[in-house]
Amino acid sequence: MLPITEPRTDRLPSEPSRRFSVAPMMDWTDRHCRFFLRLLSKNALLYTEMVTTGALLHGDTERFLRHDETEHPLALQLGGSNPADLAASARLAQAAGYDEVNLNVGCPSDRVQNNMIGAVLMGHPQLVADCVKAMRDAVTIPVTVKHRIGINGRDSYEQLCEFVGTVRDAGCTSFTVHARIAILEGLSPKENRDIPPLRYDIAAQLKQDFPELEIILNGGIKTLEQCQAHLNTFDGVMLGREAYHNPYLLAGVDRELFGSDAPQITRAEALALMRPYVEAHLRDGGSMHHITRHVLGLGTGFPGARKFRQMLSVDIHKTDDPLGLLDRAGELLEGR
Ligand SMILES: Cc1cc2nc3c(=O)[nH]c(=O)nc-3n(C[C@H](O)[C@H](O)[C@H](O)COP(=O)(O)O)c2cc1C
Repeated sequence: MLPITEPRTDRLPSEPSRRFSVAPMMDWTDRHCRFFLRLLSKNALLYTEMVTTGALLHGDTERFLRHDETEHPLALQLGGSNPADLAASARLAQAAGYDEVNLNVGCPSDRVQNNMIGAVLMGHPQLVADCVKAMRDAVTIPVTVKHRIGINGRDSYEQLCEFVGTVRDAGCTSFTVHARIAILEGLSPKENRDIPPLRYDIAAQLKQDFPELEIILNGGIKTLEQCQAHLNTFDGVMLGREAYHNPYLLAGVDRELFGSDAPQITRAEALALMRPYVEAHLRDGGSMHHITRHVLGLGTGFPGARKFRQMLSVDIHKTDDPLGLLDRAGELLEGR
């Protein structure tokens, strides 16, 4: 377990911009994925996969907190509902250098519901407020909440306002709203990301009724044009699946959404910058697939894209020269 240390002073906590963020996604937004996404955008706020307080406090703490310095701005997402455990976990996050700690009130899986983690907490606004207060008392980095617009049986707008108002009263000023309800019985987590209809109008109403709060829109956003349009209403946008399946979208974020005039990185340049990282991982005894599974999405929308994906998802398991294969896959990206 990592020691609980004083807050770092070499990088004073400041609010990271949440204008554009990549969503927390279990099994997807691990440290390798985040290292790669950071090459594509310097400004996107990146979230870790959810880590439960139990895993963080009683498991391999160092492994759960591990990240590369280049990944900043970086937020750790926590799952839990015990205020003292969340406070201790937030302290660890701050000591490890994270820029924000986020509480998951949106995940609908059975496994997490049974432990009172995720979307089920939308039915317990005061408990979420107590959690947020305990976390805020423990750290100086921002504490934010990611939630749904409701859960089955508790899906009225008044109940949503009660949730947000109660959590706001505990000091939370930034809410990321996955703009659909979660059905806690009968739908799998995957179905819960597709079947309940998206209600951007409800998220927009929330922004109107709580103008002092930062409201970030999440759910179903696929293009930077859509991001631009939503930014007329919301303080930020968070992309999940599209950022993963089509990561090259991030290469336009700094220019289109943050006004940067730095030249846009090419796919080939991004892959080339991954090479030393892959090499170091192989030297540490890791497998190339741990990393290259996250870059497959670079292979979309050009001749040779399919071959690129096949090399890095199928051929990779048969080769004894993984770096050579990476180089040959990289040749397919030349000029792109
Ligand atoms: C594979 C996968 C894993 C996810 N894991 C988490 C998670 O750990 N924490 C969380 O708050 N949401 C999780 N989500 C939900 C996303 O953060 C996001 O809210 C959802 O996918 C909707 O955004 P999108 O339509 O842009 O994908 C996950 C989604 C996917 C696809």
